[in-house]
Amino acid sequence: VATVGGTLRANPAASMGLALIGAGTAAELACLMAATGLAQNFAALRALATSGIQQGHMRLHARSVAATAGAPREHFDTVVDALVASGEVKLRKAQEILAAIGAPDTDHAAARASGKVIVLGEHAVVYGKHALALPVADAVRGRVEKADSGISLSIAEWGVHRRIDVKVSEGIDAAVAIILRELEVPDSGYAIRLSSRLPPGMGLGSSAALAVAIVRAFDELLGIGLDDERVNAIAFECEKLAHGTPSGVDNTLATYGTPMLFSNDGGLHFEPLELSETPPLVVAWGAEPGDTKEQVALVRNRRDEQPDLMGALFEQMDRIALQGADALRRADYVQLGTLMDVGHGLLNAIGVSTPLLETMVAIARSNGAAGAKLTGAGGGGSIVAICPGSGAAVTAALQAAGFHTINLSDE
Ligand code: MEV
Repeated sequence: VATVGGTLRANPAASMGLALIGAGTAAELACLMAATGLAQNFAALRALATSGIQQGHMRLHARSVAATAGAPREHFDTVVDALVASGEVKLRKAQEILAAIGAPDTDHAAARASGKVIVLGEHAVVYGKHALALPVADAVRGRVEKADSGISLSIAEWGVHRRIDVKVSEGIDAAVAIILRELEVPDSGYAIRLSSRLPPGMGLGSSAALAVAIVRAFDELLGIGLDDERVNAIAFECEKLAHGTPSGVDNTLATYGTPMLFSNDGGLHFEPLELSETPPLVVAWGAEPGDTKEQVALVRNRRDEQPDLMGALFEQMDRIALQGADALRRADYVQLGTLMDVGHGLLNAIGVSTPLLETMVAIARSNGAAGAKLTGAGGGGSIVAICPGSGAAVTAALQAAGFHTINLSDE
């Protein structure tokens, strides 16, 4: 060590340090450095030999990580111990531990809800026309547990682990607030734990499925005894908040989880479809989410500007949804494909397709799909293709192009 030299002058922090400690010579500075190092080592040895660093600092940190991961009271200490023992006090590790010890046990949770794939009729259904839609079974599962304070929400796959603020007027916070109010449940003292195999914002009904799963989870915990009609009505209220003026098709699919021909003429109606098999539908999405509220509002503006033109397109959509239901009942997938292609053209005409959706539709068609269209509100999100005998080829081509897929008939 040295107290003179160009490098020391070049570094203002070194000059300031020397001035502070008042070391006049290199020997004095060396003694001070050795003494400081020894003091730090002895302090660390003392902590290790007495109360212990693990017990103190690490354990405290592990408790806060376990709380962030939403560890339930009965598993809390187990998670903290396992975190400390692993030497990896991280949120991801806490989630792994929770999953390994079976908490949240969403696999066996009774509260389930379906996602949805609209095969024909989206947007027109907002104006009283028919929509033909199929469920994505058990898209969301969950449970509610009692907690010390507040309302927390975790959705493992989406990395959501946070407190709900019931005063927030939009998003999932507001949906939870509606559910608590409708069920007359106090807005504190519950942990909502969900798992979702659908992505958010891709037109597959995840927001409605979350709402239905949360309602059913509270029903399960508190033994309220809600019937499906009431579950659907509460989820519809949540959907109004999320989507502005929804038709109710998403929450109805989420609740009843059956293929259906849906319409809303002031009330929610659906005709369940008895199908001999699950049709070979492939659903795909990329990295472009769609905003349903925005798309529904955009279509409403266009309809206000051009009521005759838009009305005629909606009429056409209604007719092909009804014809599509017939084709589906007969398992005539070639005819259904033709109708879906026309349906996509009509959705394009009302302005809700995007270049990426067009690319996905083109990939599906050129790899053997009998028909393909965007599904849901558009402006991003997903496509659906009917693929008799071509499911594997269409799936492979979409995946090779970087898209995620679900094949309904593989489920
Ligand atoms: C959204 O999943 C389907 C739309 O028709 C809106 C609705 O029906 O509420 C675009």
